[in-house]
Amino acid sequence: MRMSVVGTGYLGATHAAAMAELGHEVVGVDVDERKIEALSQGTIPFYEPGLAELVRTHVESGALRFTTDLSEVADAELHFVCVGTPQKAGELAADLTYVDAAVGALVPQLRPGAVVVGKSTVPVGTAARLAPLVTRAGADLVWNPEFLREGFAVEDTLRPDRIVLGVDGGRGLERIRSAYAGILESGTPEVVTDFATAELVKVAANSFLATKISFINAMAEVCEVAGADVTLLAKAIGYDKRIGHGFLQAGLGFGGGCLPKDIRAFIARAGELGVDQAVSFLKNVDEINLRRRARMVDLAREVCDGSLAGRRVGILGVAFKPDSDDIRDSPALEVALTVQRSGAAVRVYDPEAMPNAKDACPTVAYSPNALEACRDADVVLHLTEWAEFRSLQPADLAAVVSERNIVDGRNVLDPARWRAAGWQFRALGRP
Ligand code: UGA
Repeated sequence: MRMSVVGTGYLGATHAAAMAELGHEVVGVDVDERKIEALSQGTIPFYEPGLAELVRTHVESGALRFTTDLSEVADAELHFVCVGTPQKAGELAADLTYVDAAVGALVPQLRPGAVVVGKSTVPVGTAARLAPLVTRAGADLVWNPEFLREGFAVEDTLRPDRIVLGVDGGRGLERIRSAYAGILESGTPEVVTDFATAELVKVAANSFLATKISFINAMAEVCEVAGADVTLLAKAIGYDKRIGHGFLQAGLGFGGGCLPKDIRAFIARAGELGVDQAVSFLKNVDEINLRRRARMVDLAREVCDGSLAGRRVGILGVAFKPDSDDIRDSPALEVALTVQRSGAAVRVYDPEAMPNAKDACPTVAYSPNALEACRDADVVLHLTEWAEFRSLQPADLAAVVSERNIVDGRNVLDPARWRAAGWQFRALGRP
């Protein structure tokens, strides 16, 4: 099928390459000329394992191309809307400017019988509002939320856990099914719903994941005062199949461009619908999450005898999670900045996120590797669990630091190993 993908960020660039991989003829469209130029040369403007190879393969084969000119996609049968819906400045609600602009610009290009497929995360009611614009042009609207995780974007797009198709009276259903035939035929579950349910599935899924993380982090708070170990607690409760081990990793909590803004937008939308009480617990989820960042700074202060002023702090990781260079709402970056504002001299190392962090926070010092970031440090803070930090040798780090103090904000380092090498080892939610 001939298709367009409007918006070429994480979601759109991955979706466009995945659709080409499924055998379609795809044009990616974006208003950002630099992004389009980079993608056209097979370069990805962000870090996502495996994506650059996939884009390059299909740009070279001719199945995938990129443009800033929307009129070039007028003959497409399907148009995926993959633009961002960030948090509105000064509000909890989502900013729909880009979604409205993308659909508004697509409408004059639509040929009769085309299908517009919304993939952006939107407040419930958005598809119903946009549908008349699309149907007036003789086309159909389908709402098809996306569940990909950064760091696993290609895998999650080509082999998703499920495909959710929100339709109005079945319109557009057969065409979107044909587009996903390669995925559906491999047995991927399909759930067909109305527009509102499809929109809510997405925010409900992210709200559940955020709640699970904040639940285990609330237990971490209790463990800290009771002298218990949250990692063993999570291990033990996770064996119950009804609970499961996924998303029970206690630590600095969730960040990134999705979970924080999605739960806030959900709170705002529920308020507009008059059901704010139904999701008021999400405010607690947000609060618990943010408290972990403050607790991490407190732990750093504690191991520095009550004050960070004049201390040297080595920071391992600023990305919001490993295998990503994304620093949007990053707990690690926020901790680094707060420690710096508390009077400490901070040096940061992250395998991929430093260029983005440098742009956003030029006053922080960045080091070329983990050992340099920790040189002369009074305390080392492990804030993003990159694989390379797990294999750090306590003895190698001991040779460069001033004091052997380490705080594990992600609960993946082995306390016994560090303590055996003479380190004072502290962690969130552990004795
Ligand atoms: C999240 C969802 O997992 C995806 O399904 C969804 O499609 C995406 O948002 C989106 O809405 O676009 P993502 O933001 O890439 O994906 O990252 P996650 O892997 O969900 O991690 C989110 C945050 O939670 C990270 O900061 C991570 O460090 C933290 N986390 C995760 C924990 O603190 N503990 C855990 O057990 C798991």
